[in-house]
Amino acid sequence: MLTKSRVYSFDVNSPRAIPWSELRDRARQATTRSYSPYSHVSVGACAITDDGRVVEGSNVENASYGLTLCAECSLVSDLARLGGGRLIGVSIVAGDGAPIAPCGRCRQLLFEHGGAELLIDAGEHELPVALARLLPDAFGPDDLGVRRNP
Ligand code: THU
Repeated sequence: MLTKSRVYSFDVNSPRAIPWSELRDRARQATTRSYSPYSHVSVGACAITDDGRVVEGSNVENASYGLTLCAECSLVSDLARLGGGRLIGVSIVAGDGAPIAPCGRCRQLLFEHGGAELLIDAGEHELPVALARLLPDAFGPDDLGVRRNP
């Protein structure tokens, strides 16, 4: 069983080395900790960093609907809380256990911490997709550096 304290060692250039089934299982477990009394859509996310740490998140809704936190938002908070780092692979699933497309805002959140190469789980019968495909020509931290007022 994959635990938070376990550190994987793998070749970060090989998508095969990412423990997709473990990430997916943990994302499925995370759906059970979702707080989603309004939409009744439980979402769980689990990601691995380039140094082998595992982070998780679940969606947390609010009576003021627009304040809902997506599972990826919660995952990014987990990442910061556990020391930060670079995400290399993420699985995001709904309560039915199947991958769910990250919303637009979450694509941007993931871009900040994983960049265009971040791999997104597409399920056990599909190859993972790079974030570059879901968020082409993304605006990111590098743009801020070069576009600041003189
Ligand atoms: N949701 C996520 O957690 N992540 C996404 O990328 C898509 C949507 C959640 C938000 C809300 O609690 C529920 O799914 C229905 O939109």
